[in-house]
Amino acid sequence: MKEVRILAIESSCDETAAAVVENGQTILSSVVASQITTHGKYGGVVPELASREHLRAISPVVREALQRANTRLEDLSAIAATVGPGLVGSLLVGLTYAKSLSFASGVPLIAVNHIEGHIHAVILEARRDGTPVELPALALVVSGGHTHLFEVREGCRYRLLGRTRDDAAGEAFDKVAKLLGFGYPGGPVIDRLAPYGDPRAVKFTFAKMKGNALDFSFSGMKTAVLRWVESRDLDAEIAARRALQRESRSPSVEQWLALTPKDTLDLLASFQHAVIHELLTRAAACADTIDARSLIVSGGVACNTGLRERARALGLPYPVYFPTPGLSTDNAAMIGAAAFPKLERKEFAAFDIAAQANLALA
Ligand code: KG4
Ligand code: ZN
Repeated sequence: MKEVRILAIESSCDETAAAVVENGQTILSSVVASQITTHGKYGGVVPELASREHLRAISPVVREALQRANTRLEDLSAIAATVGPGLVGSLLVGLTYAKSLSFASGVPLIAVNHIEGHIHAVILEARRDGTPVELPALALVVSGGHTHLFEVREGCRYRLLGRTRDDAAGEAFDKVAKLLGFGYPGGPVIDRLAPYGDPRAVKFTFAKMKGNALDFSFSGMKTAVLRWVESRDLDAEIAARRALQRESRSPSVEQWLALTPKDTLDLLASFQHAVIHELLTRAAACADTIDARSLIVSGGVACNTGLRERARALGLPYPVYFPTPGLSTDNAAMIGAAAFPKLERKEFAAFDIAAQANLALA
C-alpha cells in the first residue's frame, strides 16, 4: 500500500498546531504552539489576541511539523485544516494558510470539523494500538467549547444525542477557577488540587432536564460556587492567589496549597466530583439507549484524572477509551486522523470554503 501522508492544521481556539499523519494512524510529527501565557492574564481567551498570535505562529509551526516529519509538500496526499466550529478569526488563519499551500502545491485540501477531530484522536490511538474502537460507539466530547454526546457509526456517520444547555464543562472549570483566583485554564489546576479536598463536603444539586434527559447543564453548579464564595470572606485568599499567578507562570501544587485553606479545597473537590457525576451519569444512560459497544471520551476535559478514574471504576460493560493527554487537548494530529477517511472517499474542499464559527457535526 502506498503511504498516505496528510499535513493537518488546527487553529480553532488558542493553540496553533500542525501535524503530519501517515495512513490515519502514525503521527510523524505534532507541533502545538500554545497561547496560554497570552490569555492567562485575562482569565480566558481574547479572540483578537488569538488571531494575532495565530498569524505570528502559523508559518513556523507548519514548517517545523514538515521538518520533524522529514516531509516535503510534494510528499503529501492532502492538506487538512479545521473549518469550524471555533473562533472565526482564529479558524481563518489556519484555513487560509492551508488553502494557500494547497493552491501553490496542487495538493488537495480537506476541511475537517474540530469535534470530529476530537473523536478521531481516540480512533487513531486505538487503531494504532491494535484495539480498534468497536462501533456503534458513544462519544462524549468535552472541552472548553463543547459538551456533546454523539453516536458514532461506521463510515464516519454521527448523530447528536445530547449537548449542554448552557456552559461547556471546561468552561465551567475555567470560570470557577477564575472566580477563585486560580487563573486560566482552570481545569488542570482544579484537577491537581481536587485530591486534597473532600468531594462530599459541599452538596451540588443536579438539574432535571425538561425535554431531552440526556442534555447537560453546568450553570447551576457555577452559580452554586458563586453563592458559596459570596457567603464567605475570601477576598484575602483570592487576592493572594492572583498575586501568585502574576509572579509565577505556572505555580506548583505546593504553591497553590500554601494559599488555599481546606474549605476551598473541599469546594474544588466537590465541584469536580459534581461535574464528573453529571458527565458520566448522562453518558452511561445515553450509551445504553444506543446499545453502544464502546465509550469514547475526548476533548480537553478528558485529561481530567478524576474523570478517568471514575469512568474506569464504574465497571461499564463496554470499553472506555481516553486519548493520551497530548491528544485530548487541541492538536493537529487529530485533524489529520479525521481527514484520512475523507481522503479515501475523495471528499475534497473547494477553495471558496468559509470558516464556520458554529459548524455542527450532526
Ligand atoms: O479541547 P481543548 O484544548 O480546547 C477546546 O476545544 O475547548 O479544551 C480546553 C479545555 C479548557 O476549558 C480546560 O480547562 C479543560 O479543557 N481542561 C481540563 C483539564 N485539562 C484541560 N479540565 C479538567 N481537567 C483537566 N485536567
Ligand atoms: Zn477542542
